[in-house]
Amino acid sequence: MSLPNAPRINPSILSADFVNMQRDLERISGADFVHVDVMDNHFVPNLTFGPQMVERIQATSPIPLDVHLMISDADRWAPGYAEIGAASVTFHLEAAADPIALARRIRDIGSRVGVAIKPDSPAEQLFEHLDEFDQILVMTVEPGFGGQSFRDDMMPKLRALKSEAARRGSQVWLQVDGGIAPGTIEQAAAAGADTFVAGSAVFGAADIDARIGELRALASQHAHGTDSLGQ
Ligand code: DX5
Ligand code: ZN
Repeated sequence: MSLPNAPRINPSILSADFVNMQRDLERISGADFVHVDVMDNHFVPNLTFGPQMVERIQATSPIPLDVHLMISDADRWAPGYAEIGAASVTFHLEAAADPIALARRIRDIGSRVGVAIKPDSPAEQLFEHLDEFDQILVMTVEPGFGGQSFRDDMMPKLRALKSEAARRGSQVWLQVDGGIAPGTIEQAAAAGADTFVAGSAVFGAADIDARIGELRALASQHAHGTDSLGQ
């Protein structure tokens, strides 16, 4: 599979119309990945869908799937999403009993593997293990709902991960999720993010293609190391 170059824009279908999913998947065909939020009303206080629905999205989507599992007992459930054929499967560090073993299982099945951390979870615990993951998702809201405000207090965490990855020569992708829109994506890009999830900012736009293009352009203009915000 050929993968898009950074910056990557991944619209979250949490903000799509669930009974017009095929139409909404086609609307975001100019994006890099479709971000698929799985919630279990246990790890987070909200419920979406499970493997059956994700399998149908995988069969229908013109672009690859970036699955974000906000579920407990990730060790049990996450490999099934790789088996469906998702391009990447991200589980929460807080929800896995053995994150390294789980990451290796997901990679063995053939998906990229991501690990997500909630706002209160420190990033340092991942520093020794960057090579075990293809992407790290720094949540910029408390997971569970779309349309929340971007947490700019997560930028030091992102910067720390970016500099640690550079120090170790790691190619790991740094993803942000929550409150990403024109006006916030610049800060996240400057802090080192290269992969951007946006739900309400994409599906709430009058022109979805134009919004995806705008987000990509802003992220690229403000990419880490290219302007003063990155310092
Ligand atoms: C929230 C989800 C997000 C959500 C983002 O827990 O993980 O992917 O869809 O929505 P916005 O972009 O509206 O904050
Ligand atoms: Zn998400």
